[in-house]
Amino acid sequence: MIYFNCAATSFQRPPCVADAVLRAMNGFGNASRGTADAELDAARSVFRTRKELAELFGFDAPERVVFTANVTEALNMALFGLLNPGDRVVATDWDHNSVLRPLYQLELKGVQLDFIHADRSGNLILEEAQEKITDGTKLVVCTHASNLTGNLLHLKKMAELAHRHGALLLADAAQTAGTIPISMRDAEVDVLCFTGHKGLMGPQGTGGLCVGRNVEIRPLVMGGTGIQSYLERQPDEYPTHLEAGTLNGHGIAGLGAAVRFILDTGVETIHRREMELTRGFLDRIRNIPGLRTYGNFRGDRAAIVALNVGDIPSSDAADFLLEEYGIATRAGAHCAPRMHRALGTDKTGAVRFSFGYFNTEEELDIAAEALGKLAEKWSS
Ligand code: ALA
Repeated sequence: MIYFNCAATSFQRPPCVADAVLRAMNGFGNASRGTADAELDAARSVFRTRKELAELFGFDAPERVVFTANVTEALNMALFGLLNPGDRVVATDWDHNSVLRPLYQLELKGVQLDFIHADRSGNLILEEAQEKITDGTKLVVCTHASNLTGNLLHLKKMAELAHRHGALLLADAAQTAGTIPISMRDAEVDVLCFTGHKGLMGPQGTGGLCVGRNVEIRPLVMGGTGIQSYLERQPDEYPTHLEAGTLNGHGIAGLGAAVRFILDTGVETIHRREMELTRGFLDRIRNIPGLRTYGNFRGDRAAIVALNVGDIPSSDAADFLLEEYGIATRAGAHCAPRMHRALGTDKTGAVRFSFGYFNTEEELDIAAEALGKLAEKWSS
């Protein structure tokens, strides 16, 4: 199989990741629930991973790196833990259902919700940001890169605008953590949500949020923390404030190994390679008749190319690619309903190609050949 669905999950991972998971499964106890070597090894691995993530994200508070099962849980935790009835929140058409559905639910409870729209080309209409982010806005939520087009948002500019009006900036880095340099410090991001299994190349079941020192989030889940057991509420100290129950120590060990690989390799190196693959793909498919891509290809971006061939439904196109050429892509709506509506692809969906560090030029050649054949079929 040729795996071009890396925006859904990483498929080829550095071997150190599975090795670390196996070692943890064979040797770890429960982090913070005892003092045997097995427990201490687990606790050290968890703390090391927090530190490495903090280093990767330019964040100076490793104890405020909170682990969750995935970015959806992290986003729910942040949104439900920050917003109250009457608060105003501004989100964008780029947002994924992991942001949209919690926000629609909060809207039913009296949170006021507004959106920065995307135009027909998928660009966010930034003048709307100036109009909608005003004094009284509590929170600005934005996806760092659209999971459909791969276009990038300028986090620092959004943070400046939010802060000018006393709002916090919550960034969803689901499509960029590990593949595009992020510095919470430089970009002044208040809360950063990430998943472990995409660009970070860790195991599924890992993710989290980095909670800035200026931010207080109410816990979404309460329970055992291994400390302050007689306290009737969740302890105030981070990370236990937002972490109840046994952590995914085995997965976090794998995530730690993955983040170490990324730090050693360099996020810039990974990003450069993924851009080579993206540009190489675009060059190869440029002249295929009837092929249409979505989004803006000027400037920096995530390694994603969404396209359609003629009027072939995206699911039929993806089936052809998989059945005839063994190429895995993702068709349909990508949990991004507002973005598909903005692009006018809500009826057809789109075929999304998304690349990872370990993909090759030979795989791009095969994909281009496959799309050429698909276009021939469509026009005949
Ligand atoms: N949110 C992931 C995607 O875009 C799963 O495919």
